[in-house]
Amino acid sequence: MEGKAGEIIISDMTEQDIPDAVEIERISCAAPWSEALFLNELRNPLSVARAARLGRLLIGYLCANLVVDEGHIHNLAVHPQFRRLGVASALIEDAIGMLRDGGARFIYLEVRDSNEAARRLYGRFGFEVIGARKDYYQSPVEHAAIMLLKPRP
Ligand SMILES: CC(C)(COP(=O)(O)OP(=O)(O)OC[C@H]1O[C@@H](n2cnc3c(N)ncnc32)[C@H](O)[C@@H]1OP(=O)(O)O)[C@@H](O)C(=O)NCCC(=O)NCCS
Repeated sequence: MEGKAGEIIISDMTEQDIPDAVEIERISCAAPWSEALFLNELRNPLSVARAARLGRLLIGYLCANLVVDEGHIHNLAVHPQFRRLGVASALIEDAIGMLRDGGARFIYLEVRDSNEAARRLYGRFGFEVIGARKDYYQSPVEHAAIMLLKPRP
């Protein structure tokens, strides 16, 4: 895809991306993932961890995993300077394709109840709210909406 200053490429996230990802987490998320969590994710054979880059700069990432026929998106963030350009949409589209190619029929995720931006974004891809997890998030404590992308008919 074309970005602000050139082409944005989506490819596998690597351990070299972790420091930049931790920085994006710190400025984006109430409960940011640590370096250790990212490392764990990247070393998990069930993980699908994808990075959006502009040149060598990491501008966003998505972490998911695939267990049998269920995909689960765990984390998605885009650097604030590169939002509303379609980067998250490109990461989601890419991840849905990878998870489905790997055998996923159902793709789940949790999102903070108050995170309208993310809920709208996922809604555009066909994810629907199917339930809630009470007090799922800490600092601040908040319920999660469980969203599901059903198999294609
Ligand atoms: C949510 C987030 C990932 C969106 O990234 P992005 O690259 O800006 O998203 P896109 O440009 O692909 O947005 C696609 C659509 O999603 C919706 N959307 C995205 N951000 C929005 C916002 N701040 N307010 C309302 N709608 C929003 C819009 O419908 C948008 O389409 P439009 O720009 O044509 O109106 C980004 O804001 C972010 O990193 N937030 C902090 C971390 C986070 O909340 N992660 C999700 C946790 S599950």
